[in-house]
Formats: sequence, C-alpha cells, structure tokens
Amino acid sequence: MHSPSILATTSKSDVDADEKPRGTLLIVDDEEGPRQSLRVVFRDDYNLLLASNGHDALELARNHKIHAAVLDIRMTGMSGTEVLEKIKSIQPTIEVIMLTAYETVDTIRQALRLGACDYLNKPFDVATIRKAVSTAMERHSLSDEIHANNERLAALQIELHDQRLQEEITRTRGEIYASIIHDINGPLTIISGFIQIINQRMGDSKRLEGDDMEMVRDRLRRITRQVSNCIEISHRYLSFMRQQPAAPIRINVNLILDDLRELLNVHPSKGQNTLKIHALVDNIELQINGTDLIQILLNLAINALQATPEPHLVDISGRLLESGVDFSSMQDGPSDRILSGQGFSNTPPLLQLSVRDDGPGIPAEVLPKIFQPYFTTKPPGKGTGLGLAIVHRLLKEARGCLHVHSKPGEGAAFNLFLPATIKPRP
Ligand SMILES: Nc1ncnc2c1ncn2[C@@H]1O[C@H](COP(=O)(O)OP(=O)(O)OP(=O)(O)O)[C@@H](O)[C@H]1O
Ligand SMILES: [Mg+2]
Repeated sequence: MHSPSILATTSKSDVDADEKPRGTLLIVDDEEGPRQSLRVVFRDDYNLLLASNGHDALELARNHKIHAAVLDIRMTGMSGTEVLEKIKSIQPTIEVIMLTAYETVDTIRQALRLGACDYLNKPFDVATIRKAVSTAMERHSLSDEIHANNERLAALQIELHDQRLQEEITRTRGEIYASIIHDINGPLTIISGFIQIINQRMGDSKRLEGDDMEMVRDRLRRITRQVSNCIEISHRYLSFMRQQPAAPIRINVNLILDDLRELLNVHPSKGQNTLKIHALVDNIELQINGTDLIQILLNLAINALQATPEPHLVDISGRLLESGVDFSSMQDGPSDRILSGQGFSNTPPLLQLSVRDDGPGIPAEVLPKIFQPYFTTKPPGKGTGLGLAIVHRLLKEARGCLHVHSKPGEGAAFNLFLPATIKPRP
C-alpha cells in the first residue's frame, strides 16, 4: 500500500486537507491526462485528493473526510461502479460524479442506482464539470446538515425517552409501594378474621380437645396459607420493580376459584351479601401467575361486595369462548368501558371470567375514571382507589382484556378475557 504517495496535492497545504474549512474533492482516474487536467481546474477551489485506481481511492476515503468525488467509470482493476459502491459504504454522504465515455445506458443507470449524483461524458468542458462539482458540494453540505440535525434529533429523543423512563420508574415505584400495602391488606384482613374465630372458640377454656383442636389446626393451616400469599405478593412486586417479571405458570382456574371462595367467605365485606362462585364446566388452564389471578378476582369481588351496604348479590362465573370476542357491542360509552392491552390477541380459546353484582351500578361520569390510580368514591380511610389500577396492570401482564358494563340501578359486570388452554379430563 502506498497511501501517502497517492495524495497528489497542488500545494503543501493540501496535505492537511481534513483541517481546511473548504470542501475536499477526490479525483479518481487511471489516466494521467484527465486526472491532471481536473487537478488544474479545481486546485484553487477545493482541497484535492488524487487516486489512480480504486484501491487507493478507498484508502483515501477511509482516512479523510471527503465531500465530493469525480470518478472515472472505466478503470483497469476495480471498476468505477465497484469503487462507487464501496466508497458509499465507507462515507455514505459523499457525492459522486461519474465520468463516462462509451458506457451503455444500463451501466449509467446502475451507477445512479448505487448513489452517484451525476454523470458527465468524456471529454467534458470546464464550465460543465465546475458546475457539476459545485452542485455536488452544495448537496453534500446540505445533506451533512440534515444528517447532523437528524443525529441531534435522535440524541434529543434518547434523552427525552430516558427522562420519561426515569419519571415512569419513580412514579411506578410509588404506585407499587402503595400497591404492595393494598394487596397485602387483603390476606391480612383474612388472617385477622381467622384469629378472631380461634379466639372466640377458645373462649376461656384452658385446654383444647377434639373438634375444637381440629378447628384450630384447620384455621392455622389457612392462616399459614395467607401468610405465604403475603410473601408471594411482595416477591411478585419486587421482581416487577427489578424488571424481572416471573415466568407465568399454568394454573387451573377451578382451583383458583376454590381459593377465592374460601377467602371471600371469611372477608368482612361478605356481610349479609349473597356470594355465588360457580365452578367452570370445562377444565381450563391459564398462563398467568396464580397470585395475580387471585388478586384480580379479589379486587373485583370486593368492589362488588362493597358496592352498597344493602344486602345484594355478587356472582362470579366463567365460560369458555370458542370464537373471538365480539367487541362491536362493547365500545366505550356511558355504560361501557373496555381495556385492552397491546398484548391481547382476540384468538380463541379464550376464558371469560365475570364478576357481576346487582348493586347501584356506576354512574356514566364515574365510569371513565375508575381505573385511574387513587380514584375512589369511597369515604376517606375506606378505599385507596388502587384496586382497579392494580387489576389493569396485572391484566396487561397476562395479555388479557377487560370489559365493564354498568348502568346506574342495574348493577355492574366486569368481564375478563384471557387466553386459555382446555385441559382434557383425565
Ligand atoms: N362493582 C362496582 N359497583 C359500583 N362501583 C364500583 C364497582 N367497582 C368499582 N367501582 C367504582 O370504582 C372506584 C374505584 O375502584 P378501585 O377498586 O380502584 O378503588 P376502591 O375500591 O375505591 O378502593 P380500594 O380498592 O383501595 O378499596 C370505586 O371507588 C367505585 O366508585
Ligand atoms: Mg377496590
């Protein structure tokens, strides 16, 4: 390689071409005559780099910032079009004028396709080539400017995105801390209910025997389960905060509904309300974390139980959908609200889980707000307004969809749609 010697310059100052503010022009021609005449034409206007073959031209392009090039299409060794293609991959913004002689239209077309900005037939007159090179230089400075602006824009966007992400993380953290407390409150309420039962049964007796002993053992087992639930909830949230979502496992929906029944029957909100939880006819599995599904259903059921202090009905049921959901009748409106995450795919089989009540229903002006974090219509100290925001987040993670239908005076129905698997009965 003889790179320094190919740098043919008209004066000493051309050697440090990169440092000059004026444009740098590369002339590539394997014939001495045209190369020298181009050198004479342009030596006062630009920093010049001269090469007599493709290899040297590419070497120059690797080591110098070049604005425009005049490139002979017909050269021995590497052809002009080949040099054009390679030089463009080294410096994509370089503007290249091809010098042609007897080339076919196809060769010229190919050069233009490869990014040449112009072509001139040999022999060319000085005015024409001056004009072509000056246009190429202008184009280059324009595209350089555009390129620089794009880079600045991209950097700004990254900065903005990072800032948003930071804000999002700070906001989510706050919400998550509050959510942990909210979710752990459920099992804690149940634990304290069981402890009360044990206390009552023990009364003043000094020793427990027979059925009493059995009852205490059973309640202790249930308490232990709820304590495990609390631990599992905090683990789930912590892994979410560390951005390491736990891999969802397959769960049997009927087992979850059994757990839900047990939890709700001892929950203080159950009161005088009628609670019906129907087992699914089909043996259905979902790909969702079990604690997440319990949290979703508990939040919806407790909302339904707390809809009014008057005794009312809360009904929880599920059915398998063997065709996609028909969303046409469920569009957002005064009595409907639909929440569908990006991950939801309306392809069967889907499981529809419904939590319905015949309470007072949700007024049209309240309905659009119910999923907002901290929105509550409950008196201070009674509700945090986080329940449905948590439902929304867990459902998004499970790639599910939620539809709410409610009219004042007609109760409320919360329908979940989740991707399901049908398990054949053993
Ligand atoms: N089944 C329902 N019937 C009537 N209103 C409901 C029902 N479910 C939810 N809402 C309305 O949605 C609001 C928000 O519910 P969300 O579960 O997010 O918070 P909350 O229940 O008020 O508080 P928390 O969940 O902390 O106890 C409720 O305050 C209530 O106005
Ligand atoms: Mg709630």
